[in-house]
Amino acid sequence: MSSATLEKNSSALADAESSAAHLVTVTFRIRRFNPEISDQAIWEDFQFQIDPKERVLDALHKIKWDLDGTLTFRRSCAHGICGSDAMRINGRNRLACKTLIKDINPHKPITVEPIKGLTVLKDLVVDMEPFFQAYRDVMPFLITTGNEPTRERQQSAEDRKRFDDTTKCILCAACTSSCPVFWNDGQYFGPAAIVGAHRFIFDSRDEGGEQRLEILNDRDGVWRCRTTFNCTEACPRGIEITKAIQEVKRALITRRF
Ligand code: SF4
Ligand code: FES
Repeated sequence: MSSATLEKNSSALADAESSAAHLVTVTFRIRRFNPEISDQAIWEDFQFQIDPKERVLDALHKIKWDLDGTLTFRRSCAHGICGSDAMRINGRNRLACKTLIKDINPHKPITVEPIKGLTVLKDLVVDMEPFFQAYRDVMPFLITTGNEPTRERQQSAEDRKRFDDTTKCILCAACTSSCPVFWNDGQYFGPAAIVGAHRFIFDSRDEGGEQRLEILNDRDGVWRCRTTFNCTEACPRGIEITKAIQEVKRALITRRF
């Protein structure tokens, strides 16, 4: 073997040793449910080594690809954009792709379970349809009257700022599924739908504000909010959801928006 090859091999060995030195042994305690096997959910532990700088999503991939291919969860973008991997990690709603293992104490078992308040279909996958229906119900699109303009609808930077925060929503459901009102009554529109309505109610170009306010004036609308701030704490986009809900409540009273 040439000296160049020997050098290359020993450097590869050193790299492997140094990356192994960073690994920690973790226990992932996952809430499993398979309606084809049982109508009861169970907790199942998986123990393996991983770099703590990896994310919970990487750990779930490792379990699925190396340990148990039946583990079921949603993810798409893996970068905090699509909103499909909201789950309860150590009892708190988070995106698996935005949660580093080192930040959630890898030395204790890490619990992972589906978000609450929506029917579990399998393992970490819930039925999102009631959530999306509430979002559709608030008409989250621009409503205008009159003829279509021949150029873009302009608005001042100040007017745009009015609803900037609520444009950031990725519809992950972390807020709605952390809300105790929603847990008790799935008919409540929930924070995410109100955020979706806010985004258009306060848009100076939109003319459907009154319609949306009437929809949210319903017994299952904004008045159900108990200002617990769970939603604001859960939002991975940092949206001030409780503030947005308060603004919608105020608009309902003053009819100014
Ligand atoms: S408001 Fe935040 S937590 Fe709620 S659905 Fe949108 S991004 Fe997710
Ligand atoms: S996988 Fe898209 S937000 Fe996490």
